[in-house]
Amino acid sequence: MKGVILAGGSGTRLHPLTKVISKQLLPVYDKPMIYYPLTTLILAGVKEVLVITRPEDAPSFQALLGDGSEFGVSISYAHQAKPAGLAQAPLIAEEFLNGDGFYLILGDNFLYGSGLGRKLQNLSSVDGAKVFAYKVSDPTAYGVVELDPTGRPISIEEKPKTPKSDLAIPGLYYFDKDIVEICRKLKPSSRGELEITDAIKEYMSRGKLAVEVLPMGTAWLDMGSFESLLEAGEFVHIVQSRQGILIGDPATAMHVRNNSK
Ligand code: TTP
Repeated sequence: MKGVILAGGSGTRLHPLTKVISKQLLPVYDKPMIYYPLTTLILAGVKEVLVITRPEDAPSFQALLGDGSEFGVSISYAHQAKPAGLAQAPLIAEEFLNGDGFYLILGDNFLYGSGLGRKLQNLSSVDGAKVFAYKVSDPTAYGVVELDPTGRPISIEEKPKTPKSDLAIPGLYYFDKDIVEICRKLKPSSRGELEITDAIKEYMSRGKLAVEVLPMGTAWLDMGSFESLLEAGEFVHIVQSRQGILIGDPATAMHVRNNSK
């Protein structure tokens, strides 16, 4: 199973913290941010990881993660020259993917919940794309999905001013091989980016999009603002100190994965 971590971007909401360092290298309590999405991929059963970064940050990520052997996965690297949108990731990753389906996770996404790993491991048989939906109090900053009473997606909008539902789409997706052809045909949005929302919409129009609402009690945070960065650190601290476990630790996750087989 393959996974791509998109860890570029400009991180303007975290200036000046991110003026000279990638957002995904910032500390989230006791680990660098990228450890958390890497851990999610490991729990999903991923063995081969591609990390996409800004060219100038690549040496730091390589020094931190190396070839992945420390965590029991293989890690390779690619550059995104400009932060021109999430839907550039499958195009940059085309050679690495080599026609396989894969998980795409954003480098600033934190996901934690009981049974999440098992839920993710079942995705590899999906025909098409699968995204998750997460109930939030203010969906206007996210891709928003509307479901019919049977749970089928009927509309998807990026950062809508008047959202049709309160279900945001977290930055963790599963795509089959069609994603590369779909992204290649996308046109930049009004903000000049190739939008992953447009690619997901294309799967929806082909009748090949599955959406699963994450259960209550799952924690999802994008760690891209001062508030959510602090909240994620506090969450990790509270759970770890209370339960005496490590969360967002790739080596621990690999140990859990190997022992649950
Ligand atoms: P965003 O948080 O939307 O953008 P950003 O990281 O540039 O931050 P800001 O809005 O504060 O300027 O990005 C979500 C994630 O996707 C984050 O981990 C960075 C990554 N990303 C890329 O790697 N390349 C891109 O072109 C974009 C838009 C985001």
